[in-house]
Amino acid sequence: MNDHRLVLMQREGHIAILTLNRHDGLNALSDQLVRELEETVEELRDDDDVWVVILRSAVDRAFGVGADLKERKGMSTETVQAGRRRMVRTFSELANLPKPVIAAVNGYALGGGLELALTADIIIASDDAQLGLPEVGLAIMPAAGGTQRLPRLIGKMKAKELIFTGERISAKEAERIGLVSRVVPRADLDAEAIKLARRMTENGPLALAMAKRAINLGYETEITIGLAYETEAYDVLLKTEDRNEGLLAFNEKRKPVYRRK
Ligand code: COA
Repeated sequence: MNDHRLVLMQREGHIAILTLNRHDGLNALSDQLVRELEETVEELRDDDDVWVVILRSAVDRAFGVGADLKERKGMSTETVQAGRRRMVRTFSELANLPKPVIAAVNGYALGGGLELALTADIIIASDDAQLGLPEVGLAIMPAAGGTQRLPRLIGKMKAKELIFTGERISAKEAERIGLVSRVVPRADLDAEAIKLARRMTENGPLALAMAKRAINLGYETEITIGLAYETEAYDVLLKTEDRNEGLLAFNEKRKPVYRRK
């Protein structure tokens, strides 16, 4: 039994920092890595003490390079399918976490590595990042959400260009097309992610969850239904203790203390 953890979790206040820690193979998504990710995400989902999640890599050259092509070589089609289903499930769990997720992307973010980053609400990248979906070069296609999340994020045509060519783009180009929210120097990546997360945790945690829910559900539907989701989410917040605390703190000219209640 190998006790080297491929996915680490560390807490800082209300922030959970989830670190991909597979140094051999540049965080390729082996069966073990995906299982550990699944467990960790499960744990995070119901942890009310975690308000914001950061997804990062401990590997200097890569956030992730997608499916483990060495492991896959010896696998039957059925095993590949089962592994893919676990990956899709886990990525969806991550995307649906009721708290903001920030991906801090360094180095290569390719294939499933980029698809993993695409589950985040916000992607920030370091200036050495290279992003791409190279699957068609292997005569397969992105199938851990890439054909669905990428077009929704950057538009259908640009997504097709990236997927059909399989080419990698720089962090700067990724920022230009809206694939990442901003680019920071490599040395500052972790600090910037923490700063962003800390800024979020100063706010009402249920408000973060409800705003995420309204944006995500609304984005998948037409505006009248989206507006109904927005109203529903707002109504939930109106009845919370944190909402009263926010109002009180404003009137007492002090910082609010939120408790996710
Ligand atoms: N699965 C398993 N191992 C991988 C891997 C993957 N997806 N990608 C890289 N590696 C391994 C390499 O085999 C190599 O291992 P080795 O040292 O035992 O030979 C190590 O990681 C470093 O990769 P290397 O190719 O030597 O580095 P590089 O800087 O020249 O290129 C990449 C890096 C990521 C551009 C290149 O390895 C690559 O294209 N990988 C495949 C990415 C891909 O197609 N992902 C989608 C899969 S569906």
